[in-house]
Amino acid sequence: MKVLIAYMSQSGNTKKVAEAMFDAIQVEKEIKELSEIESVDGYDLLFVGFPIQAFGPAEKAKQFMAKYINGKNVALFTTHASPEDSEDLPPWLEACRKAAADAEIVGFFNCQGELSPDIMEMLKSSDHPKMKSFAEQGPSSKGQPDAARLARASAFAKEMTS
Ligand SMILES: Cc1cc2nc3c(=O)[nH]c(=O)nc-3n(C[C@H](O)[C@H](O)[C@H](O)COP(=O)(O)O)c2cc1C
Repeated sequence: MKVLIAYMSQSGNTKKVAEAMFDAIQVEKEIKELSEIESVDGYDLLFVGFPIQAFGPAEKAKQFMAKYINGKNVALFTTHASPEDSEDLPPWLEACRKAAADAEIVGFFNCQGELSPDIMEMLKSSDHPKMKSFAEQGPSSKGQPDAARLARASAFAKEMTS
């Protein structure tokens, strides 16, 4: 089995998750940023990871998925500043699944990731009331993904490749 872990990460959280997954799996494997990828031929399974931005998958990830994952086995993963049990989350995760709808989604991992302080300031001054109120919850995400979340990411990656 040959696996590609493909990810984008603006402030490093999704990258941490991607690397934990990469370290955990025992099969033939590569890890690349989405921007480096020109072909996904020859892989049996793609892990595709990205942050939630503005209530759905980051735009670059959406574009990547539209171009590359049609008909492929895909394990999605995402990080978001809202807590995992936030009632806001289900429609955002649904938007991720929708962006990957042309693939065979074999699993989906998500966890909280720290909202970086500069983004928090930027969102606080946003005209968008939802963005603004979301930024106010930012401090609760500090330090994420923590060791427990990275351990969950590792377990997910092992399960997908066993
Ligand atoms: C422009 C922008 C919009 C964001 N929108 C959301 C959002 O709608 N919901 C959310 O939970 N987090 C949102 N976040 C926070 C990120 O999803 C979160 O911090 C994530 O872990 C960042 O991952 P990264 O470090 O891999 O870029 C947003 C971040 C940015 C920069």
